Amino acid sequence: MSDTFKALVVNKQNEEFSVEINELNFGDLQEGEVLIRVHYSGVNYKDSLAAHPDGKIIREYPAVPGIDLAGVVVSSDDPQFKEGDEVIATSYEIGVSHFGGYSEYARMPGKWIVPLPEGLSLKEAMIIGTAGFTAALSVQRLEENNLTPENGKVLVTGATGGVGSFAVSILASRGYQVEASTGKESEHDYLRRLGADTIISRDEVYDGEIKVIRKPKWAGAVDPVGGEPLASLLTQIQYGGSAAISGLTAGTELPTSVIPFILRNINLLGIDSVNCPMETRVKTWQRLASDIKPANMEEFIAEEVSLEQLPNVLPKLLKGQVSGRMIVKL
Ligand SMILES: NC(=O)c1ccc[n+]([C@@H]2O[C@H](COP(=O)([O-])OP(=O)(O)OC[C@H]3O[C@@H](n4cnc5c(N)ncnc54)[C@H](OP(=O)(O)O)[C@@H]3O)[C@@H](O)[C@H]2O)c1
Repeated sequence: MSDTFKALVVNKQNEEFSVEINELNFGDLQEGEVLIRVHYSGVNYKDSLAAHPDGKIIREYPAVPGIDLAGVVVSSDDPQFKEGDEVIATSYEIGVSHFGGYSEYARMPGKWIVPLPEGLSLKEAMIIGTAGFTAALSVQRLEENNLTPENGKVLVTGATGGVGSFAVSILASRGYQVEASTGKESEHDYLRRLGADTIISRDEVYDGEIKVIRKPKWAGAVDPVGGEPLASLLTQIQYGGSAAISGLTAGTELPTSVIPFILRNINLLGIDSVNCPMETRVKTWQRLASDIKPANMEEFIAEEVSLEQLPNVLPKLLKGQVSGRMIVKL
């Protein structure tokens, strides 16, 4: 094993911002009981923000982004893991204040690590990544709140994005009638292949006007978009239905009223993947490897890129240009 390895480093010094591939030493890695040879990482919206000078994701520079990683344990002082184990580490402080997955090696606290479940390869785990994991959490929460296929259509917004794509696929495989909302007319075939029954434009969710209440259309919704489109979809959720919300691609403000909640008895379910308890995390990954694992994982790959290509591809997500998942091979 060489003394140095490659990583993508973002730095901001005196307002000078840089994103470049650097050689690091093992001593540069932060504390943690488990050293991992990273095989794959992924590109999430948060990673694109981390590589943007105004992204407000990185707490301390220099930093190594990459909120997701999958790899093989090189050495471990945590008795739960041993050399050769295949593992996944996502969220917590990874790629934010702790050097993340855009690195040939990563050192992690054992309490952040999930053993790779049987039925998933390291590559498949990173095709799923935080985006697919968040989609799975969203569907689980909707079902815990009594959503069943018999209740009616389920809306997925931002449907061609990472969270959206997996939500469409998981819901379809569980027998739901899925209505996918997208701003990308060119990607209707992709959404049909994932299992969408109907595809609508973003305008059909939010036409620029947020009324107090509208005709009910959906029994539930997975919404990684937020903002005004979310306020508008809430007015169209049917009686007793729920919206599982995880994202902010259309903004953080939620200009809604109490009316849909008190007239229609609807639920707004917040989804967080970052501090999701370990028990739920392990169970959800096990489900993603078994009963809710998509049949054709390669379908989700928008692009497989190398560390060297990352500085050029990271901005694409912020422009909403990607369908599915970009994965990184290290
Ligand atoms: N809560 C959590 O734990 C958690 C976990 C993962 C992600 N997230 C958040 O969820 C969001 C999605 O993440 P992702 O990784 O799926 O990102 P992504 O792959 O970039 O997908 C976002 C999708 O949103 C749609 N979109 C973009 N701008 C929009 C706008 N102005 N109005 C309406 N739709 C718009 C686009 O889909 P269409 O073109 O198909 O409409 C885009 O592909 C991000 O805000 C991310 O930070 C949160």
